[in-house]
Amino acid sequence: MSVVTVGREHLHAIAAIEALSFGEPWSEQALELLLGDTAFGLACLDEEGVPVAYIGVLTVLDEGQITNVATHPDFRRCGLADKLLTALMEQARKKGLWTLTLEVRESNTAAIALYQKHGFAVVGKRNYFYSNPREHALVMLCSL
Ligand SMILES: CC(C)(COP(=O)(O)OP(=O)(O)OC[C@H]1O[C@@H](n2cnc3c(N)ncnc32)[C@H](O)[C@@H]1OP(=O)(O)O)[C@@H](O)C(=O)NCCC(=O)NCCS
Repeated sequence: MSVVTVGREHLHAIAAIEALSFGEPWSEQALELLLGDTAFGLACLDEEGVPVAYIGVLTVLDEGQITNVATHPDFRRCGLADKLLTALMEQARKKGLWTLTLEVRESNTAAIALYQKHGFAVVGKRNYFYSNPREHALVMLCSL
């Protein structure tokens, strides 16, 4: 499955993956942030060119903050998030980023395992960071 940079034409399908994956999904309009100068996204496309998984990152100077990663439920456990995170880290290094950080729900064992597999470690906690449902966030960081 090919990995491409997220473009405007992908946002509708990515918003649908968001809606299937999160209690408070990003809308198609909110996802436009990924098209700007201070962010980028990568997507895995199916054979018809439709995104089935994506990852987004915001950049501030030499730091990247992963906004979200999500795989369509029909395509989970096929290695797509692995592929996206590997590609994202490669691009982040090329862009001169030194660190990647993210927040993750402390009950999200799948995502935490994914990030740990790629070298992220827990460096902090934000109490009641999330609503719907209310939950603490773990802050994870990876040095590139
Ligand atoms: C977390 C998520 C993105 C993983 O996507 P995926 O494409 O299924 O992940 P992959 O198949 O590439 O798996 C990569 C690694 O992630 C971890 N992982 C993925 N799903 C897992 C699960 N259900 N349980 C435990 N570990 C899991 C494993 O470490 C796995 O490596 P392994 O196969 O060698 O064990 C997916 O479950 C998802 O979209 N969840 C809902 C959205 C979400 O919670 N996003 C994270 C927000 S911070």
